[in-house]
Amino acid sequence: MGSCFSSRIKADSPLHNGNSNSKVSSVSVPSTPRTEGEILMSSNLKNFFFNELKTATRNFRPDSMVGEGGFGSVFKGWVDENALTAAKPGTGMVIAVKRLNQEGLQGHKEWLTEINYLGQLRHPNLVKLIGYCLEDDHRLLVYEFMPRGSLDNHLFRRASYFQPLSWSLRMKIALGAAKGLAFLHSDEAKVIYRDFKTSNILLDSAYNAKLSDFGLAKDGPAGDRSHVSTRVMGTYGYAAPEYMATGHLTAKSDVYSFGVVMLEMLSGRRAVDKNRPTGEHSLVEWAKPYLASKRKVLQVFDARIDGQYSVASALKAVNLAIRCLSTEPKFRPIMNDVVKALEQLQEPEDMEGPGPSQNEPRQNLHASSSNGPQNRRKSMNGTSNARNASLHRPSAARGNT
Ligand SMILES: Nc1ncnc2c1ncn2[C@@H]1O[C@H](COP(=O)(O)OP(=O)(O)OP(=O)(O)O)[C@@H](O)[C@H]1O
Ligand SMILES: [Mg+2]
Repeated sequence: MGSCFSSRIKADSPLHNGNSNSKVSSVSVPSTPRTEGEILMSSNLKNFFFNELKTATRNFRPDSMVGEGGFGSVFKGWVDENALTAAKPGTGMVIAVKRLNQEGLQGHKEWLTEINYLGQLRHPNLVKLIGYCLEDDHRLLVYEFMPRGSLDNHLFRRASYFQPLSWSLRMKIALGAAKGLAFLHSDEAKVIYRDFKTSNILLDSAYNAKLSDFGLAKDGPAGDRSHVSTRVMGTYGYAAPEYMATGHLTAKSDVYSFGVVMLEMLSGRRAVDKNRPTGEHSLVEWAKPYLASKRKVLQVFDARIDGQYSVASALKAVNLAIRCLSTEPKFRPIMNDVVKALEQLQEPEDMEGPGPSQNEPRQNLHASSSNGPQNRRKSMNGTSNARNASLHRPSAARGNT
């Protein structure tokens, strides 16, 4: 890892909330630590046999694999909707089965943390955990299947299967993800997510966003404590600077990560992309001079959504990102305010699509800006190593967090 800026942060560091308006039926996460037995016993989840999941995924066939991350591989499978027993492919309910493929304590810890939080928290913008499997060395997690996969694929993959997301879909996804985060920060949940990034935002068939991966989540500070002290973990490019420097974790660290994702959605560029020219590897660093200039700020926008938004909406969205990215955490908004700001940027569903809506003047920002950032379109064609780098979790990660 070391200087590998784009990989998931797993380095030891010696230094080292609001309410959403969505329908919520959750139970607060107890702030007292619970034992593994307590977590597994109390969760409302099905305890699957390994063989059941093997059958449901057709023996973890490679062509059932839908993705791979630092935790392991994710497979598509089928279960009976009621009994949750393995079903014939194409029948019953579709599930996503995540199989831990790393050894050691850190993987087990993240597996258990996921069950601890997602076993108790329920919200329309959090992915639903259905069950788990703990058998011999096997550790798996079973989720509702999210047919449109993760946001990073839609923003950054060049395969023709993924059409560029329209402006209105980007704003819809931003709102859904913000509601999920606002719920986590609410008094009801009081959780710091710690790994907010485009690959952890999953999309259902109607592009409703749901947060996944709670392996790094933490209870927020109790009583009048201002922060939680932790080892620095998360993903380079998304982690807040003060958290990286001190290990002091607050809900405002998540707000910073939200700002990075917002900037990714507006620009179509990855948070970290080593395939770009020197000086452009870090999205935030690259964008800073543009964000600081009223004249240039709109030049960070993704050319693929040219003409789909009004200048007023674009400025509102970019200003929101700028506030979330404030170096000083106290200047960052709380997630409830982010939700309110994004609600104002929603377009009626029937206007969704690649084209501009009729009632507002749209601007083709790039057609007239010859001095805009170069290589803008590289995000469409270039592959990034950010994702690949996060496939490997260094062994230094293992230990308490
Ligand atoms: N519930 C799900 N339904 C459909 N696809 C899923 C689901 N969960 C994960 N995936 C797919 O599997 C991929 C890998 O997910 P995973 O969470 O293991 O890794 P990641 O988020 O890409 O990386 P990291 O380990 O750094 O968090 C996702 O990007 C997504 O495409
Ligand atoms: Mg993930």
